[in-house]
Amino acid sequence: MGTVKTAYYRGFQAVFNIGARLLYWRKPIPVSGPGSVKQIPELLGKEGVRKAMVVTGPTVGKRLAPKILEELDGAGVAYTLFAEVEANPSVNTVNRIQKLYLENACEGFIAIGGGSPMDAAKAAAARVVRPDKVVGQMAGLLKVGRKLPPFIAVPTTAGTGSETTIAAVITDSDTHHKYALMDLHLVPKYAVLDPEMTRGLPPKITATTGMDALTHAVEAYVCWTYNTRESIRLAEEAVCAIFRWLERAYRDGGDMEARTQMLIAAYKAGFAFTRAGVGNVHAIAHTLGGLYNTPHGLANAVILPIVLEDYGEAVHKKLAHLAELTGVKTDGGDAEKTGAFIGEIRAMNRRMDIPTGFDFIREADIPQMVKWALAEANPVYPVPVVYDERRCEKVIRRIIAEA
Ligand SMILES: [Fe+2]
Repeated sequence: MGTVKTAYYRGFQAVFNIGARLLYWRKPIPVSGPGSVKQIPELLGKEGVRKAMVVTGPTVGKRLAPKILEELDGAGVAYTLFAEVEANPSVNTVNRIQKLYLENACEGFIAIGGGSPMDAAKAAAARVVRPDKVVGQMAGLLKVGRKLPPFIAVPTTAGTGSETTIAAVITDSDTHHKYALMDLHLVPKYAVLDPEMTRGLPPKITATTGMDALTHAVEAYVCWTYNTRESIRLAEEAVCAIFRWLERAYRDGGDMEARTQMLIAAYKAGFAFTRAGVGNVHAIAHTLGGLYNTPHGLANAVILPIVLEDYGEAVHKKLAHLAELTGVKTDGGDAEKTGAFIGEIRAMNRRMDIPTGFDFIREADIPQMVKWALAEANPVYPVPVVYDERRCEKVIRRIIAEA
């Protein structure tokens, strides 16, 4: 990487870091454990919400949302249901939710699902408090600027960490352009981490969403700057918990202890990366999502050990520490410990039937992937090693070679 470019990126990150430290990074209040969705009516009562807007997608709407609606009915809390949030939610969907919310005089949101319902509800909530701004006008950093109505997030997978983040990604219905709204006000007030909501999730999805959470924690942990004492601690706790519990949840979808621990780990990893950022693994994984529809967690699971190995010495100290904390290897030098830590990630992938590489990447797409990945990572992500075209291409070729 050209030293001038790298110096510019590092300078940008240093300034960004100072700015970020001046902001108030709120975490959602976690409510966890089997049956914790039963507490939702009480939380609504505490927030003075007499009528809630429930936002979810069609599958969760049929399978899981009824459990929560029953609780609301039982407690006599009124609600309006919108169960049509699509993958990659659109501006139209956001506007429909906002309209329903206002027509029915709702006073708070309950978002149930993975990333999409969470994002759509956040953007709709932003529109409720900013009726003067359309979604496109709130895209970018800190453009919402007002407190949202009470917002309860109920994740149905343990991985994305959407319930903790400052972001909502919304697609323009006509141009297909993606708007990313990023504002501290978009952090939900409560995260209800009920393992019953993830019971019976297919093993494949448990595995890949869990590895997404691991990628959040590890990428945040090895970042060059942005980390705080708290984000470091939460990333370490998340990595240890995922090493301990993910495969148990994978093998037995009904293991509520493992599912609870995974939801808490994903929440902690979500906060760590909200504060400290992700890196080249996510940047490359997103290109696979865009070009081949590769599920996000699967892409991360495959790319994580390859990128960590490529980083080399730059991450030895930190990964050696993670090897010690997880108990993977406690003796030997940093390089050996790092090797053992990365080896254990590969072994977890193998045991959960996750492939070692991808053979479907087309040669002709590589230049585009490199371009997109570098544009996403630089200068914002505080990556431990700044990639140039050549090094990014080398990593992509390894992803193919390892298939
Ligand atoms: Fe992710």
